[in-house]
Amino acid sequence: MTMTAQQRPPTGRGTLVLDVRDLSVRIRTEHGWTGIVDGVNLAVHAGETVGLVGESGSGKTVTSLAVMRLLPDNARISGAVRLGGRDIMSLPEKELDRVRGVEMAMIFQEPRRSLNPVFTVGEQVAESVRRHRGASRKEAWARAVELLDLVGIPDPGRRAHNHPHEFSGGMCQRVMLAMALACDPKVLIADEPTTALDVTVQRQVLSLIHDIQQQLGLGVLLITHDLGVVAEVCDRAAVMYAGRIVEEAPVTQLFDAPGHPYTAGLLHAMPDPVRHAERMAVIPGRVPPPHEFPQACRFAPRCPYAVEECSQHVVPLRQTGPDHSVRCARTGEIELGDAFYD
Ligand SMILES: Nc1ncnc2c1ncn2[C@@H]1O[C@H](COP(=O)(O)OP(=O)(O)O)[C@@H](O)[C@H]1O
Ligand code: SF4
Ligand SMILES: [Mg+2]
Repeated sequence: MTMTAQQRPPTGRGTLVLDVRDLSVRIRTEHGWTGIVDGVNLAVHAGETVGLVGESGSGKTVTSLAVMRLLPDNARISGAVRLGGRDIMSLPEKELDRVRGVEMAMIFQEPRRSLNPVFTVGEQVAESVRRHRGASRKEAWARAVELLDLVGIPDPGRRAHNHPHEFSGGMCQRVMLAMALACDPKVLIADEPTTALDVTVQRQVLSLIHDIQQQLGLGVLLITHDLGVVAEVCDRAAVMYAGRIVEEAPVTQLFDAPGHPYTAGLLHAMPDPVRHAERMAVIPGRVPPPHEFPQACRFAPRCPYAVEECSQHVVPLRQTGPDHSVRCARTGEIELGDAFYD
């Protein structure tokens, strides 16, 4: 699958399956209560893949764990998370467990670590089926083999008897995907699902997630630090910096006409097959730790366009087009060019 964002036809939007409103997360750390994620809005429709992209330390994982309500006890979440129209923030833990399994599933970066080395992969997928469907052992096993087939495990009837150590990293991620799909979720959250894999396998797994998303009409929230991954599989993307969404747009628009200097910087840092001989320009500096987030524009210390005003007021995410929003005080004033990051 090599289709670029520019070539992909626009997709119509299905039902809103995941609706995150004004999500904020504070965590108690040695610096006291620290705001990690601030006022995040995300909408995922059936049949679409939404990217959440940003450098490491931006708050992507904390956002996804908050959506799943999987954060530790030292975290406080505010805002609303609606799954298929139901607010899961107010659900008691027991009911939440059911919703989490049945309507929304998650896969992570390290598939091998999430699998139990003691049991065969078939047993683990079958256990997911049993937990969510109450099927008999025999039915659950048969469904597990079907699911392993769906995620492209060759000879699934035989391989189901293998243990995780007999599988490669890519195959383990396929197994994790089979476990996630065991409950027929409406939403799949995939947090850096291919980051630990080598490039060829990465493409195969992305392509698989894309195919399954299309086939089952899933809503997918794909979390990644890699804009290349976004270009390959996402319809829309939200760019996150230091706990805030700084830009959101359909992927074609984001790549053709980024509106935020951070997005422009990320794009410029992408490997470019045409200019591959040239040095890639990374954005100087790094994401600050949450207790050091600047008060106003959090990107200001790294932004080549920063002026005094940028450090005076918090800038809201503002609509700059019908389906495009940007959080920058200088929108309309500055022309984003490659040259700034060279
Ligand atoms: N449990 C925690 N306690 C304290 N700080 C945390 C915790 N989890 C994450 N953080 C901090 O929150 C910030 C965002 O982390 P994370 O969501 O993992 O970023 P990303 O997934 O975008 O790389 C980081 O600075 C990280 O150190
Ligand atoms: S508000 Fe200012 S510092 Fe922040 S991204 Fe825009 S131009 Fe850069
Ligand atoms: Mg992460």
